[in-house]
Amino acid sequence: MLILCFESSCDETSVAVVSADSGAFAVKSNIIASQVEIHRLYGGVVPEIASRAHIEAISKITYEALDTAGVKISDIDLVAVTSHPGLIGALLVGVNFAKSLAYANSIPLVDVDHIKGHIGAVYLDCEVLPEPPFIALAVSGGHTSMYLARSHTDYALISTTRDDAIGEAFDKIGRIMGIPYPAGADFDRLASQGFKELTGCEENFYSEFAKRKLFKKTEMKLPSPALSDGSLDFSFSGLKTAAVNLLHKYSVRGEELPRAEFAAIYTYTAIEAVAQRAASAIEKHGVKTFVIAGGVAANSHLRRRIGEVCDERGVRLLLPSVALCGDNAAMLAPAAYYEFCNGKITDLYLNASASDEIYAEGL
Ligand code: KG4
Ligand code: ZN
Repeated sequence: MLILCFESSCDETSVAVVSADSGAFAVKSNIIASQVEIHRLYGGVVPEIASRAHIEAISKITYEALDTAGVKISDIDLVAVTSHPGLIGALLVGVNFAKSLAYANSIPLVDVDHIKGHIGAVYLDCEVLPEPPFIALAVSGGHTSMYLARSHTDYALISTTRDDAIGEAFDKIGRIMGIPYPAGADFDRLASQGFKELTGCEENFYSEFAKRKLFKKTEMKLPSPALSDGSLDFSFSGLKTAAVNLLHKYSVRGEELPRAEFAAIYTYTAIEAVAQRAASAIEKHGVKTFVIAGGVAANSHLRRRIGEVCDERGVRLLLPSVALCGDNAAMLAPAAYYEFCNGKITDLYLNASASDEIYAEGL
């Protein structure tokens, strides 16, 4: 089966063709028109500009996706589109385009939740498919949540952030430090430099930093984002505020901020909070597979640290390639495929929604 996928929930317009046969997925094309350069001028995504840029790009890249895959619209068996959550105007562009195309060509349509879409990325390029039950950690600019996947389509929410998402926590502090939007990838590199300087190691510097408890020996102390009720939920606003205050202190004193060292300590504090919750969730639910998805899944320190958490517990970690961590359309194909196989067909009354899907809770 050939699936034509549309993603326009934030600042990337993406169209992909993916083949899916008995759960084996192959990406035939995955075109991404990024708007990052436009939004960088404003230090973040401007929703109205995003919607307009999606409208300008979507038709052109649909042709490009079909051409690159070497297929015609008449070869397509299923149309998939992100319908929620995201920026409402941006989502509406993809939803309306996908609905029109599906209707005009009599192709069934399936709408996909953006987070389930991100988790689908591991089905595209991992040697083994995730075998339910597994835990999926979704970390992006808008989300920090864990889900228990009881099947390829049935996800229950284990925990979520009570305030900021981890991607936001990197982007906002990066912005104050003058790192261009989105700051995540540059912040990751700066933190590596900081870990190397602090440990004197060229490799395994994160573990060395932790082992030697170097976070205790710095003047740049940041609070661990732990919740007093022992919940597996995340919270990054306290860490972010403490970091803002620290940056402010350097600025008013006229002292130069040790940027790399600061990035390392901030990264360590944020990632340890995620790692602790991931470890607790694995132990609580007794799963044997753990998946990370979303833009922040590209973070080299997070990938390595969650790798350690999983190794210590005999759990298999599945990670998408860095290229498939950020927003792209191909990642939607697995969720669309499994939901279609379960009998889901979305009707043409489909609307976009800015909010999250309501997942089963109470785990
Ligand atoms: O999934 P995504 O493309 O969009 C949303 O659904 O939000 O994620 C974008 C986020 C941004 O916050 C960006 O800074 C972050 O992913 N990001 C990273 C890295 N690469 C991208 N964050 C930390 N480390 C990275 N290497
Ligand atoms: Zn995303």
